[in-house]
Amino acid sequence: MPSASAQDGLFSPVQLRSGSVLPNRIAKAAMEEGLAGQGQLPDERSIALYRRWGASGAGLLITGNVMVHAEALTGPGGIVLDADSPLEPFAAWAWAGKAAGAAMWMQISHPGRQVQANMPGVAWGPSDIAVDVGRHSKRFAKPVAMTVDQIRETIDRFAITAERAELAGFDGVEIHAAHGYLLSQFLSPLVNNRIDEWGGSLENRARLLTEIVRATRSVVSPEFAVAVKLNSADFQRGGFDADDAHQVIGMLAALGVDLVEVSGGSYESPAMSGRPTDGRTAAREAYFLELAANLAKSSPIPLMLTGGITRSDTAEHVLAEKVAVIGMGTALAVTPDLPNRWREGLGAAGTLKPVNWSDKPLASLAQMAQVRYQMRRMAAGKEPAPGIRPTLALIADQRAKARALRHYSRWLTSEQREQTTTPTARAAVR
Ligand SMILES: Cc1cc2nc3c(=O)[nH]c(=O)nc-3n(C[C@H](O)[C@H](O)[C@H](O)COP(=O)(O)O)c2cc1C
Repeated sequence: MPSASAQDGLFSPVQLRSGSVLPNRIAKAAMEEGLAGQGQLPDERSIALYRRWGASGAGLLITGNVMVHAEALTGPGGIVLDADSPLEPFAAWAWAGKAAGAAMWMQISHPGRQVQANMPGVAWGPSDIAVDVGRHSKRFAKPVAMTVDQIRETIDRFAITAERAELAGFDGVEIHAAHGYLLSQFLSPLVNNRIDEWGGSLENRARLLTEIVRATRSVVSPEFAVAVKLNSADFQRGGFDADDAHQVIGMLAALGVDLVEVSGGSYESPAMSGRPTDGRTAAREAYFLELAANLAKSSPIPLMLTGGITRSDTAEHVLAEKVAVIGMGTALAVTPDLPNRWREGLGAAGTLKPVNWSDKPLASLAQMAQVRYQMRRMAAGKEPAPGIRPTLALIADQRAKARALRHYSRWLTSEQREQTTTPTARAAVR
């Protein structure tokens, strides 16, 4: 079995440290679907979507971020897996993705301060520094600095979610430490100004991530894959940079991490959609490749690179730079069978309309809305419609969010939820 280097091209298997094998080097990257059903659980729509992607020819499917804390969601349609969630819906979701032989990993996440101001629940951060996106800043909640107890609870929550993902039949988890969410906030010297053991030096800023990896590894089986999504850089002056990423990868290697997915950016500098505020990243294919290639030269852990890949020659080029797995989000929302098409020498079935708006945060939202529009269509058994106009996609997205927010608010305050989230219930479920 080949190791996790790129000797044999896109369709060669990858053996990971934990022993699990990915059938090929093409991954569907995490994309928050916003499709949670009753009780913030996956339902027939998530199942339909992942059955479709499971047959795409990709070797690995990573779910959109699943929330570890019911009171802290990246968006109102977010799926929650905590100590109180029933496992059956998650088992059905896992099996839908795995039915055609792909590995299915759950991305697990906490938004920290990156929550909308209109969301119920909590807005936590390493410090009480709010998201700054210029005139759109009011859209985000004002965070409170986490107590040490809240930090420890959060470590437990990630481990519980990972343990239960394995019980449900997932093959691995990816811990989301990128894109300005909680773990990325702790890593950032711009957002984390704590003076205790959770802030200051890089080792301290990485402590929440490393403790979560440690706690997760201690509750899952050795063959269960544990991956981390990490920013190669935050693309903000004075923020987490490529040297920091290099050092954090070294820390993760010692803890038994199988794969690190390299990405970049946050809401403040949306480099993950090719729109960093400092303008260093061109909107081009595989825009993080230079950073990832440098990291790959010395990385003790196989790397996955996501961001802007749509063509097989770009993907091959990325593998040639010693990246082990290529990730695609947008391209697989537009052309859900793209890996199979590549095998046949074909390309993408279409492209999204470009969003050349001068308001970068709004353009980034519209671009995400165009992608989510495709996911909603596939979840309803329809074909993607990439020609949707960005403004219309944005309106449809806002409507779906408003509906989801009503359901989530009702659920969070429901008597039933209150009764089942007592500490005793939690202990019993574990
Ligand atoms: C609608 C949408 C939702 C996303 N949700 C997530 C997410 O839940 N977790 C994550 O790590 N990245 C998320 N991303 C970022 C993608 O994983 C990926 O890094 C980014 O889209 C760039 O890759 P691409 O050019 O192949 O789409 C999302 C992207 C889009 C468009």
